[in-house]
Amino acid sequence: MNKTQIQLYKLKYFVLLVIMPLALLLFSCSQEMKTIKPGEIWPDNNGVHINAHGGGILIDNGVYYWFGEHKVEGKKGNQARVGVHCYSSENLVDWKDESIALKVSDDPESPITVGSVIERPKVIYNPKTKKYVMWFHLELKGMGYSAAKTGVATSDKISGPYTFIEAVNPNAETWPLHFPDELKTKSYPEDIKEWSDEWIQAVKDGMFVQRDFVKGQMARDMALYVDDDGKAYHIHASEENLTLHISELNEDYTGFTGKYIRVQPTGHNEAPALFKHNNKYYMVTSGCTGWAPNAARLLVADSILGDWEYIKNPCIGDDMDLTFYSQSTYILPVPGYKNALIFMADRWTPENAIDGRYIWLPVQFDENGTPYLEWMDEWSMDFFKK
Ligand code: DGJ
Repeated sequence: MNKTQIQLYKLKYFVLLVIMPLALLLFSCSQEMKTIKPGEIWPDNNGVHINAHGGGILIDNGVYYWFGEHKVEGKKGNQARVGVHCYSSENLVDWKDESIALKVSDDPESPITVGSVIERPKVIYNPKTKKYVMWFHLELKGMGYSAAKTGVATSDKISGPYTFIEAVNPNAETWPLHFPDELKTKSYPEDIKEWSDEWIQAVKDGMFVQRDFVKGQMARDMALYVDDDGKAYHIHASEENLTLHISELNEDYTGFTGKYIRVQPTGHNEAPALFKHNNKYYMVTSGCTGWAPNAARLLVADSILGDWEYIKNPCIGDDMDLTFYSQSTYILPVPGYKNALIFMADRWTPENAIDGRYIWLPVQFDENGTPYLEWMDEWSMDFFKK
């Protein structure tokens, strides 16, 4: 071997034994170090802050799809100007803009016309119809929050485009499960004073259920939940936001079967987010203070249409009474880890809606198996390997 050959030989081994392992190590570290930073700007693949507020996630073929409200600059940014935005990711940290999954309509007669209010979109997949089904809270243009409807749209492709089907007040002409006969015809005085003992009792007795019996129940903040048996449920703030309703969806997930329960009448719960752990159903909700944060609530039940009981505020530590300045929107089970769930919430900025931030935190369990949430400035999926 001459001198040049020896040098080339040495270089080859240096690359093979030093440079390549180092590069591999750096690559794997950078993959593991990908972190979630709750409350910070979260850029997508184009470097633009993710625009998917009040959102939820559906996993399809190992890819995560995040759907949420597309907000625009300024104070009126909470009105739907564009539609429901979709992003995809393989690691829950890097998100690719998949564009608008459901577009608002230019037709002024359409319920989802520009200027309507489209909130908290959630998507589930129906294996029987092979359709992706999106539900969202819909308020009709120019009517404030009085319509309290829920809209449904479907698509053959997860990222859309979704076709709007209809918007309804659920469960018209149907009484909730276990609703006593004598309350179906009970009459209430018209001048009953809000928040008086008599009024609170009247709401508990279903005064608003009875009022809305013919046209259908109110449905504002909402969530969807597909149980292990394939049955899907629509969970929504009803009865003037005073009572949650959990309603069974039909086989193709595009309508209501009429089977529904009332949860915590007068409990004033909104922003529902459900998950199952150790055969129990849990729900995180918020109180009702508009865009301002309040203390989250944790509820539990043995079956989804069973009795839901309040446990406690699931947050601990500083800002626990303000849910770390956020409001729940979804709880994502992360496949591939044991007991891995991500609590997703919104830090709203109504003065400039597009700047709203995302608060994602791992759900933790105490020694009794009760879920809780703790603030973290930065965390990665490695947290679930513990
Ligand atoms: C709180 C709800 O959770 C939001 O989705 C939105 O409806 C605001 N209220 C409107 O004030």
